[in-house]
Amino acid sequence: AVTRKYQFDVQMTSVTRLCSTKSIVTVNGQYPGPTLFAREGDHVEVNVVNNSPYNMTIHWHGVRQLRSGWYDGPAYITQCPIQPGQSYVYRFTITGQRGTLWWHAHVSWLRATVHGPIVILPPLGVPYPFSPVPYKEVPLMFGEWWKNDTEAVIAQALQTGGGPNISDAFTMNGLPGPLYNVCSSAKGETFKLKVEPGKTYMLRLINAALNDELFFAVANHTLTVVDVDALYVKPFAVESLVIAPGQTSNVLLTANNNPNARYYMLARPYTNTQGTFDNTTVAGILEYEDTSNGKAPSTSSLPILRPTLPEINDTSVVSNYTAKLRSLASAEYPASVPQQVDREFFFTVGLGTHPCQSLINGTCQGPNNTRFAASINNISFVLPTTALLQSHYTGMSNGVYASNFPFYPLRPWNYTGTPPNNTNVMNGTKALVLPFGVAVELVMQDTSILGAESHPLHLHGFNFFVVGQGFGNYNPSSDPAKFNLVDPVERNTVGVPAGGWVAIRFRADNPGVWFMHCHLEVHMSWGLKMAWVVLDGARPDQKLPPPPADLPKC
Ligand code: C2O
Repeated sequence: AVTRKYQFDVQMTSVTRLCSTKSIVTVNGQYPGPTLFAREGDHVEVNVVNNSPYNMTIHWHGVRQLRSGWYDGPAYITQCPIQPGQSYVYRFTITGQRGTLWWHAHVSWLRATVHGPIVILPPLGVPYPFSPVPYKEVPLMFGEWWKNDTEAVIAQALQTGGGPNISDAFTMNGLPGPLYNVCSSAKGETFKLKVEPGKTYMLRLINAALNDELFFAVANHTLTVVDVDALYVKPFAVESLVIAPGQTSNVLLTANNNPNARYYMLARPYTNTQGTFDNTTVAGILEYEDTSNGKAPSTSSLPILRPTLPEINDTSVVSNYTAKLRSLASAEYPASVPQQVDREFFFTVGLGTHPCQSLINGTCQGPNNTRFAASINNISFVLPTTALLQSHYTGMSNGVYASNFPFYPLRPWNYTGTPPNNTNVMNGTKALVLPFGVAVELVMQDTSILGAESHPLHLHGFNFFVVGQGFGNYNPSSDPAKFNLVDPVERNTVGVPAGGWVAIRFRADNPGVWFMHCHLEVHMSWGLKMAWVVLDGARPDQKLPPPPADLPKC
């Protein structure tokens, strides 16, 4: 294991997409940002220098941060933001993960443009547990682009109490592709993947879009899923897959098709939200190299083939896909699923409403003159003005957060039948406290005042096992008997199914304060988030070390 050092200069950069130019926040002037490479077991140090006019933090999404919570990144949870002109060195070790993760800004909605891949290779000399060995590996990062200023989009979404202005395009490695109506100066805005016939490629997929789950497919090429959220899975082949914001996945693609054609790689939303959303399609193009003379054929005359993507609201495709995900559970890569649980929790997650009076500005776009709120167990989380982790560490949580996050919903709910009248969601900065080492089972149930909606829930500081999922109301007397405690998939972001529930298990072996939230940015802004406090254990190696000297101050 080695130490890998990176320099991240956060700055304003002029970027042109869809024929219009705007100034965006970037790292090192790049959109998407630079790729961070490490091997499992390596130590990583990233010096983040904030030369932008905005407060900044960087989160290493999915990195476990075992006893290094000071470097996790969510603003006002584990740290105060890095103010303009200031810097902070993030230091962490990659433990027990291999595959693809990503980094992104974790303050306001700045992750819209501040994000990049984290490529984690196995330790030197350790092979992949699948075959064939990929000839090349290619990160494929999906994003969402607004022609409008990102800050204006944020302000609009937060002030109206309705949905955000829909994006103008999805992007693949920062490029929208040819299916958008673009001017001639935008001709280069297509991601192209050149492949050699017969070779196998590993695509490292990352969904960095703000508000949309995406279906992905490549025309005439099967994808073999080998890894999700930097953890191996039992390989399986699919024609298309779904990936939620926050999720990552490695898939193998073998170039075994007619080289005299081109193939669209397409991504488009999966959603059953009512109302308006961006239903456009980002396209990249897969092209074969002509290996006979070592040069690429003149491709512009070749036919271009299109894959079939599932219908935009096809929830059954999504649940069939997620049901196939199984961890390896092998001798080398065992699945350490807690077989007994010490703490059981049941959370409702979804949308509700606040009375309109709580609106500071703008109009009320929620039903019956209300404002949308999103909540977990009817609590809409309010960020404090100082960081929870510091308050916890110094024993001064009074006035910052309350340790009484409810174990069960405070109001009755019923998914089947009329959606619950989930009004008067309460605001609060509440945490749920766990003793070190307890095995936790958490069932999350989708509820909504509007209709079913899938919520990609992301837990910081842990991977968890997805032991069960289903539609309708969770039944505590019959559903646990069907849990998979043998080879459930292990990940850091899981979709709570639209109109259904998901059950996860994890062991609270990482002391600190850990954020959990919906990775749809608009739902997070509306309060679909909460914090776990994991107490120190008795042994020295079960305690959170003291904060670093350069930890930013509020
Ligand atoms: Cu990918 Cu709390 O974040």
